[in-house]
Amino acid sequence: MNHSISYAYRMIQLSKVENPIGIQISVKNRGLLPFEVKRVYYIYDVPAGESRGGHAHKELQQLIIAVKGSFDVLINDGRTKKVICLDRPNIGLYIVPGIWRKLLNFSEGSVSLVLASQAYSEDDYLRDFEQFKNRKYEP
Ligand code: TYD
Repeated sequence: MNHSISYAYRMIQLSKVENPIGIQISVKNRGLLPFEVKRVYYIYDVPAGESRGGHAHKELQQLIIAVKGSFDVLINDGRTKKVICLDRPNIGLYIVPGIWRKLLNFSEGSVSLVLASQAYSEDDYLRDFEQFKNRKYEP
């Protein structure tokens, strides 16, 4: 039987306020997101060909948004992989805890914005892919 990875992520559409002087997007706690935002960070100036991520989180939930340009997010639950292209500032990728992710193929000048459910903690990271797989599927 094919294993579906659809439980691991969700695309969340953020509403835009458009007028002649620009477009604004705001994200509220207790709104569309399945978590309360405790931390925000953003990544830019990723050199051509480089990737980010390459880890999973034990508890952390995140919403990843390409606020400028585009990049791909590879998600992997240890059994099934999927690549999701983010290229619109009003669409966020929500990822549940326990999913390996890698961000790659950044377009020049792209900026990724990440909204996170917890403060930064290195203890929440799983950085070794073999350990990640074994942790999930060992009896
Ligand atoms: P990391 O999450 O590993 O980077 P990537 O974006 O590639 O997934 O973080 C890189 C470094 O930055 C690492 O040493 C941890 C540190 N860091 C913080 O101090 N605070 C943060 O909120 C984040 C996301 C990372």
